[in-house]
Amino acid sequence: MDHNTEAVSKVTVPWILERKAQGQKIACLTAYDYPTARLVDEAGIDLILVGDSLGQVVLGYDSTVPVTVEEMLHHLRAVRRATHRALLVVDLPYGAYHVSEEKALEVAIRYVKEGGAEGVKLEGGKKRASLIRRLVDAEVPVMAHVGLTPQSLHAMGGYRVQGKTLESANQLLADAEALEDAGAFAIVLEGLPREFAALVTRRLSIPTIGIGAGPDCDGQILIFHDLVGLCFLPRTKFVRLYAEMGANLRPALAQFREDVVHGRFPDDSESYHWPAGLQEQFERSCAAK
Ligand code: KIV
Repeated sequence: MDHNTEAVSKVTVPWILERKAQGQKIACLTAYDYPTARLVDEAGIDLILVGDSLGQVVLGYDSTVPVTVEEMLHHLRAVRRATHRALLVVDLPYGAYHVSEEKALEVAIRYVKEGGAEGVKLEGGKKRASLIRRLVDAEVPVMAHVGLTPQSLHAMGGYRVQGKTLESANQLLADAEALEDAGAFAIVLEGLPREFAALVTRRLSIPTIGIGAGPDCDGQILIFHDLVGLCFLPRTKFVRLYAEMGANLRPALAQFREDVVHGRFPDDSESYHWPAGLQEQFERSCAAK
């Protein structure tokens, strides 16, 4: 099989690894439901992540922390039904891998068996190496995630760019190397200075997938709702707006309301009709009663 063509009919973990070896970029996006996953998959995006950003962009929580294992599974299944080409990866939510490796394995295996995931993503550095080994040993491909890790919001004291000092950059590089050694097939680099992300990308043989980490990563990921302008939070520096769905939807929704209120929706062509003659028949039968 040719792993290198863009026309590949199914993206696999080896294909993702091969992209880096061939110096080809990897396009990734999040999706959380059937229609958006269909659009993303049909656009040829290589990897779809059912991210725990679900919590903020779809469920209205104020962080990813409250997202549950069951909520992730529910959305994963919808995305699975729509995804045919892209590699499908799901986030392990906060709490799913913090109690024990056994519990984490159980959740990951459920996501593969019941949700159709082809890999899981989890946040954190070196301290996740042992868990990643166990998951890989259980045939679950793992995408690691270092830098700005939103599940550590409280420990980080806010969403801040990481790796801005020599000490933190050294720590993060050691983390990334440990995660590669543990068997991760790719690593998300979030909220890092461009120069540092470029260095990590050169040092690792697995692909780096950047978000707010500059253009030198092996691939890029954005949150679907950020990219299409369907977010209610202030736009962050690294997001490029490719469509204005929110702005376009507002007038459409206001127009629908106006049409209903003024009796303009639906019109006759948008209505079903009785067959000819039935109305008179019905009225006669009512009158006879
Ligand atoms: O939850 C998520 O969507 C993510 C991506 C932003 C990488 O972790």
